Amino acid sequence: MLLITGASGGLGSLIAEKLAGRADVRLGTRRPSGPDQLRVDFDDPSGLDFSGVRTLLMISAGYGEDDVVIARHEAAITAAERAGVRHLVYTSLTREGDHLPYALAHRWTERRLAASPVATTVLRNGLYAELLAALAAPAPDGRITAPLGAGRIAAVAREDLAEVAVRVATDPAPHAGRTYELVGDRAIGGADLAAAVGATYAPGTLADARRALSGPGAVPFQVPMLVGTYSAIAADFLATEDEGPLRTLLGRTPRPALTAYAQAVTANTGWSAAA
Ligand SMILES: NC(=O)c1ccc[n+]([C@@H]2O[C@H](COP(=O)([O-])OP(=O)(O)OC[C@H]3O[C@@H](n4cnc5c(N)ncnc54)[C@H](OP(=O)(O)O)[C@@H]3O)[C@@H](O)[C@H]2O)c1
Repeated sequence: MLLITGASGGLGSLIAEKLAGRADVRLGTRRPSGPDQLRVDFDDPSGLDFSGVRTLLMISAGYGEDDVVIARHEAAITAAERAGVRHLVYTSLTREGDHLPYALAHRWTERRLAASPVATTVLRNGLYAELLAALAAPAPDGRITAPLGAGRIAAVAREDLAEVAVRVATDPAPHAGRTYELVGDRAIGGADLAAAVGATYAPGTLADARRALSGPGAVPFQVPMLVGTYSAIAADFLATEDEGPLRTLLGRTPRPALTAYAQAVTANTGWSAAA
């Protein structure tokens, strides 16, 4: 059996769509709602039962302080070892993401997996083009004020990452022990984002962004996560383009990140340059 954790999330649901109808696949989620779904909550270690699972596609559960995320991933890996899972595929963070505040929990998890007897494959995902749609959408006045400066990022369409995850998880043996850097094939900056949606680019400062993000209802751990993401892009730390793995694992040219960005902006905000 192939079990996918985090199956109701943005990445997991795309993976689930691609595997729909396969009798050997189960979807793990905290709130299961169908016969092909299993309750999987890393915050409940004693409830994690991976009996019968041959391959585990473990989607990172990265929303929380580092100690929370590390405890979740420890619980999932321990449960996989206990159940005799043969191969664990983990969705991590691209090498260049080492400057991001959430890198630590990913690197901790990679180190934990390297010490595990379970065969593993690490999918080091770049930042999603769809994440840019959340971080750098045009305001109603048509200006993108995200503090990206002149920095660029090799963002990647989430759909492509889902496709790679499916390919690897459904035939994991050739990928045992491998770590793949999965970034987009073209680095894009704020001006490119603006052009893609007919907006204008007027970058603000990190301090402006921190103030806006810290308003009422802000979740404390998310503020440094988001400001750190802007900062890493602005400092051009995420600009290295695909050196082969994404294209090779897809077997085709990656989807253009700007198209994925524009589609997500429209879906999220209804923004249209003509409006
Ligand atoms: N590369 C990027 O740009 C980027 C951007 C955002 C996040 N991420 C990371 O990549 C992961 C997947 O991205 P996404 O777009 O699918 O994020 P998402 O839509 O926000 O989904 C978050 C995922 O975390 C899972 N999760 C949260 N708490 C959990 C727990 N206690 N036990 C088990 N699973 C738990 C959720 O599972 P259920 O709701 O199904 O239970 C859900 O699938 C995220 O969790 C985060 O670590 C990457």
